[in-house]
Amino acid sequence: MNLPGFPVNRPRRLRTSPALRRLVAENSLNVSQFVLPLFARSGKKLRRPVAAMPGVFQLSPDEIVREATAAHALGIPAVLLFGIPDTKDAKASGAYARNGIVQQTVRLLKRELPSLLVITDVCLCEYMAHGHCGLVNGGKILNDPTLALLARTAASHAAAGADIVAPSDMMDGRVRAIRAKLDLEGFADTPIMSYAAKFASAFYGPFREVAESTPQFGDRRSYQMDAANGNEALREVAQDIQEGADLVMVKPALAYLDIIHRVKKEFGLPTAAYAVSGEHAMIKAAAANGWIDERNVTLESLLAMRRAGADILITYAAMDAAKWLKSS
Ligand code: PBG
Repeated sequence: MNLPGFPVNRPRRLRTSPALRRLVAENSLNVSQFVLPLFARSGKKLRRPVAAMPGVFQLSPDEIVREATAAHALGIPAVLLFGIPDTKDAKASGAYARNGIVQQTVRLLKRELPSLLVITDVCLCEYMAHGHCGLVNGGKILNDPTLALLARTAASHAAAGADIVAPSDMMDGRVRAIRAKLDLEGFADTPIMSYAAKFASAFYGPFREVAESTPQFGDRRSYQMDAANGNEALREVAQDIQEGADLVMVKPALAYLDIIHRVKKEFGLPTAAYAVSGEHAMIKAAAANGWIDERNVTLESLLAMRRAGADILITYAAMDAAKWLKSS
C-alpha cells in the first residue's frame, strides 16, 4: 500500500459523525453471534447465585427454561449447557447417565424451545470426585481409556436432542472418538464444536466455583495447553479438524486474541471465542467499584474478539449485551 500522507489524507474525515463511523465500521456485534452458558442442577425453582460471578446462577431445569426463554426472546440463538450432578464418582457416571442432569435439561429445552440451539459441554470434570477431566490412575490423568467415556457422554447428549456437542476435556483423539460414536449411533448430522485451543488458564477460577469442578489434586497442565504456545495451538486445531471438528473454539478469549486471529486466518472454519469466567468477573468487579463502564468495556471486548476473527461469541454477558445492542 502506498497511501498519500497528510494533508491529502486526513483519517479524521471518516470519524466526524456517528452515522459515518457506522458506515465505515469494519466489524460489528450482532445478537446472532451470541451463545449464553447455563449451569443446570437438580431441583425446582432453584436459582443459586455464585459469589465470584454476579449474574450467573446454578439453575434447576425449570429455571433453565425460564432463562433460556428470556435469552431467546432477546434474539440469542444458542445456549451452552453445563451440568452439576448430585453425586460424583471415579468414572463420571453422571456424565453419560440417560437421565443425567444435562440429558434431562436438554430434553426439556428442546421440548419447550425447539428453535433454540442447545450446545452441550462434553467433559467429565464436574462428574468426577477428583475433579479432573479424565480417568485417573496413580495420580496420572489417563488419555485413551477416557475417550470411550467422552464418546458415550456426547452420544447421550445427542440422544437427548443436543444440537451441537462441545468437548472441552483436551484429551488427545477425543474428537475422532466422539465422531465415530455419534456416527455409529445414528447422529451423523450432529456437529462437533471442539474446544480446540483450550489453555490451562487461571481465568477459569470463578467457573470452577459455579460448576463445582476444581481439581482435588494437581492442576490441568498435563492436558490443557501452555499459555506460552501459539504454534502448538494451530497444531491442536488442525488435528481436531482432521478428526472431524465442524466448529472450533479458542479459550480464553481476551488474552488470546492472537490465537483467534491465527486460527481463523489459517483454517477459515466457524470459530468461537469463549469469554471465560475470569474475564467476566474482572469486568463485573471493576464496574462494581465504579472504575470502568461495564457496558462499554463489555461491548468493546466482544468487538475485539470479532475483529480478531471470531464468528461466535460465548459470553456470560450475552443477555446484557443483547439488551445494550437493542438500545444503542
Ligand atoms: C470444563 C470446562 C471449564 C470451562 C469450560 N469447560 C473449566 C476448566 O477447564 O477447568 C471454563 C469456563 C469458564 O471459565 O468460563 N473442563
